[in-house]
Amino acid sequence: MQVGNAFIFEHPLMQHKISLLRNKETSTKDFRELVDEIAMLMVYEVTKDLPLREIEIETPVAKTKTKVLTDKPIALVPILRAGLGMVAGVQKLLPNARVGHIGLYRDHDTHEPVEYYCKLPDDVAKSTVIVLDPMFATGGSASAAISFLKERGCTDLRLVCIVAAMPAIERMGKDHPDVPVYCAALDEKLNENAYIVPGLGDAGDRIFGTK
Ligand code: PRP
Ligand code: URA
Repeated sequence: MQVGNAFIFEHPLMQHKISLLRNKETSTKDFRELVDEIAMLMVYEVTKDLPLREIEIETPVAKTKTKVLTDKPIALVPILRAGLGMVAGVQKLLPNARVGHIGLYRDHDTHEPVEYYCKLPDDVAKSTVIVLDPMFATGGSASAAISFLKERGCTDLRLVCIVAAMPAIERMGKDHPDVPVYCAALDEKLNENAYIVPGLGDAGDRIFGTK
């Protein structure tokens, strides 16, 4: 299903795993494993347009022309903290991707993102950049991260989040209509603290067991 520039996955395996993720009884260990598995499943679809080049190889039976990915670098950019939980799953399918980090937290009162860390690969501007964050609530954090990457010269960007809410999709549509967004679930609304409802709670705390 497509809503604005967001693609919402409806695969049964993903829906099943997200139901487990949402359950408040799910342990930190299981939560972390589920985030890892969902991220791995999502990246299959997120990378469906990566460029290929033709090479010639020899199988045990014959010479043949076949396709491999081009040398265009791929950069994964998790938004700290919760985005870190998605990196290992994506790396299972993209083992050569470089990893950059952008640290943002939401101010408790304004819900606006505050940047506290940034370290990106040298060639990030030439890369296919996959921004990772499980939660896409107001969209402020993802939009700020993408603005920052554009300031660094990035043009080939995509955002991958597990649970999205409409305000975030609308905000990204206005701020970055050129950036495709991939989500595993679209939820109804935000509460007064800008948490996604029904959502899954605080993703960072549940991944790292900090509450
Ligand atoms: C969470 C989440 C996103 C952001 C989403 O991070 O991981 O980065 O909130 O909300 P938004 O779409 O309204 O910006 P948080 O600020 O809780 O920091 P943390 O990951 O360090 O816990
Ligand atoms: N950040 C989270 O971790 N969860 C939400 O529901 C919203 C922002």
